[in-house]
Amino acid sequence: MAGAEGKSRGQFTTRLGFILAAAGSAIGLGNIWKFPYLAGENGGAVFLILYLGFIFTIGISVMLAELAIGRASKKNPVGAFAHLKGGKWVAVGFMSVLTGFVILSFYSVVGGWTIAYAVKTATGLLSTTDAKAFGSTFGNFVSDPMEPLFYHGVFMALTVAVVAKGVDNGIEKTCRVLMPVLFVLLVVLCIRSLTLPGAAKGVAFFLEPDFSKINAGMVIAALGHAFFSLSLGMGAMMTYGSYLPRQTSLPGAALWVTSLDTLIAVMAGFLVLPAVFAFGFDPGAGPGLTFITLPAVFSKIPFGAFFGTLFFVLLVVAALTSAISLLEVVVAYLVDEKHIARRPAAIGAGAVIFALGIPSSLSFGIWSDVTFLGKGFFDIMDYLASNVLLPTGGILISLFVGWVVFAKVMDGDQGGIGQGFRWAKVWRIVCQYVAPAAIAWILISGF
Ligand code: PFF
Repeated sequence: MAGAEGKSRGQFTTRLGFILAAAGSAIGLGNIWKFPYLAGENGGAVFLILYLGFIFTIGISVMLAELAIGRASKKNPVGAFAHLKGGKWVAVGFMSVLTGFVILSFYSVVGGWTIAYAVKTATGLLSTTDAKAFGSTFGNFVSDPMEPLFYHGVFMALTVAVVAKGVDNGIEKTCRVLMPVLFVLLVVLCIRSLTLPGAAKGVAFFLEPDFSKINAGMVIAALGHAFFSLSLGMGAMMTYGSYLPRQTSLPGAALWVTSLDTLIAVMAGFLVLPAVFAFGFDPGAGPGLTFITLPAVFSKIPFGAFFGTLFFVLLVVAALTSAISLLEVVVAYLVDEKHIARRPAAIGAGAVIFALGIPSSLSFGIWSDVTFLGKGFFDIMDYLASNVLLPTGGILISLFVGWVVFAKVMDGDQGGIGQGFRWAKVWRIVCQYVAPAAIAWILISGF
């Protein structure tokens, strides 16, 4: 993957390289940790249907819009809006950078949990087979004031280390090996989960919608998660798009990344939800769901400690490839626009984001009674990002492409999409009307 330095902006060497990097950004904690518990909290199959609907209409359209803005401008988000239009639109770029701060602050806390769990599974966490014990282990871990902070720091340090060096071939090559391994492991673990006694109830919960239970909160959650999961609404795909070679088809790339991301989320649903029901957990248990139920599954399979450790290591990798893209947005801005060298930019931004993550981490323990509108700090950051900032970014990016710079992003000679795109008219209508109206309606009804 190329660095973002102004003069020698790099490029992805191959289409596959880009797709793996962008899929690495999209596929992360959102798919494997967040999607199953959101589905669990929001009516299972109803959530799945809403999510798929949003992904393949609004999500894929905004994905294409971001990639096209990136490649047509070859700039970080702030530079991209300035280059293509300027004026007030530049504020959308700044909002992207801000959103990168907010998301990475709490994302890194959970990234830390995955490292901790890789260590714990390797060192005897699974020596019990009492499924309920994993609930208290998780509760004790996240409510401890120091241990999760330590791992939050480790995760952030890893992210900074990679971004500071420039997101080079190392990551791309690592993703090329580890993403397929993650996929194979998910298949194996899905099979194990689906064949547990009592799994059928979980499958039914995930696949049989009960529309009588639908409410506005579910629709907002599904849309917010569509954005979060595809890394949309905050310029990550714009930044990656700016490194794309001219001959790569943008609609094809958008379709690939969207499809891979969706596939992994659905597989994670088939892994976690049947196990939840098989072991009698509450599907609405929230953020702890994956960290409690998966150890329970691993403790019941041969070589469970081995598979469990491997799984959490791969979850670390999945989280890391996403976190890198979050920090890259901030760093690309500091490097391109503020002319700060990449290394201090990465370290400085990483330190500030780490500090911002501290209250999120503590909100699971000693600060759990510090709440606003009934939500703790972690939930506030998550809500603000997923349900406010990303959708707002999505509206503005859609309007920008649909109304302001459509000709530029279609102009193949300037790095845009090119004239061969058969769906251009439909896509424009989605960007002009459908996506902004749908997102705005959902946002407003949420308040
Ligand atoms: N898409 C990532 C996930 O599903 O875990 C999270 C994410 C990464 C969101 C990068 C936004 C972003 F810019």
